[in-house]
Amino acid sequence: MSLVGNWSYPTNIKFGAGRIKELPEACAALGMKKPLLVTDRGLADLPITKETLNILDAAGLGRGLFSNVDPNPNETNLDAGVAAYKAGGHDGVIAFGGGSGLDLGKMVAFMAGQTRPVWDFEDIGDWWTRAEADAIAPIVAVPTTAGTGSEVGRASVITNSETHAKKIIFHPKVLPGVVICDPELTVGMPQFITAGTGLDAFAHCVEAFSSPHYHPMSQGIALEGMRLVKEYLPRAYADGSDIEARAQMMSAAAMGATAFMKGLGAIHAMSHPIGAVFNTHHGTTNAVCMPAVLEFNAPAIADRFNSAAAYLGISGGFDGFRAFVQDFNDSLGIPRKLGDLGVTQNAIPELVKGAIIDPSCGGNPVKLTEDNLSTLFQAAL
Ligand SMILES: [Fe+2]
Repeated sequence: MSLVGNWSYPTNIKFGAGRIKELPEACAALGMKKPLLVTDRGLADLPITKETLNILDAAGLGRGLFSNVDPNPNETNLDAGVAAYKAGGHDGVIAFGGGSGLDLGKMVAFMAGQTRPVWDFEDIGDWWTRAEADAIAPIVAVPTTAGTGSEVGRASVITNSETHAKKIIFHPKVLPGVVICDPELTVGMPQFITAGTGLDAFAHCVEAFSSPHYHPMSQGIALEGMRLVKEYLPRAYADGSDIEARAQMMSAAAMGATAFMKGLGAIHAMSHPIGAVFNTHHGTTNAVCMPAVLEFNAPAIADRFNSAAAYLGISGGFDGFRAFVQDFNDSLGIPRKLGDLGVTQNAIPELVKGAIIDPSCGGNPVKLTEDNLSTLFQAAL
């Protein structure tokens, strides 16, 4: 089977190995003549980034680059990015990278034409309607990891550097107009990033599938997304140059983010404050939290995971699925406890305070309280 396709759901996606060459056409489709490529510091000097800038330059689109982006991007990175966008006279953004580059790139395009502070657009109620929608610059997204799925998302996570809180900033027009999913860009990912990002995609699918909200389309996407991660993440982890496995993981990542329109849950509610306070890797943190959350949610999700386990070829229903998750983590080098990531006992009250106000709480199938979140953090520690 040829793993190439042009998809228009949930946005325009050009999928297939080598398709980064089509970046100039993607920019043209959105009317960009002078795009700003936004990525993180770590990626800025890598060959995939330089080659991408060469493709743009050769097409007369310049080689505008902003890479002053932290692993957990914050409002300072955003202000600097918007300043670079305006100073360079750019007319669109290429959000390039893993979660950090994609999220910050999307926000530079969003904030370039706004007058209110970014925190006024947090994903609460209809706050997004405060934005000047016509002033949002066009966005092409190019993922270089397979996990976040931010390339097909309508939100970005920005850390408030003063409060250490991770805030979700939402607007429908933050959904990139064109996405180029080229699995060749992920070939150089180090093994632990392959594992952590792949397990972020898995957590998106598991939490969307667990969410009680009615959204059968997302439910189906979440289930197939889990299957792709189960089949192909071990292959991508064992051999980073396995392009079929890299392609299937890139699909699973986009599927996870499409599925979680149905909701996320306790895994992400815990992971967001942990990442904000301890700067841990997001997907790895999710993976460490997942066994405790599955046990906690068991009364509400066991039935549906009995069916999922059958589809995934896992015997033993929900209990078999839980055992699989722990074995899967172990096989991918994921630590068993949050303590192994540097999380400390005395931080639990602060983490609970961050978790209980995280929008992900709303999708958890068991109602989250400060008490049960404290117990969950303790169990995962
Ligand atoms: Fe995530």
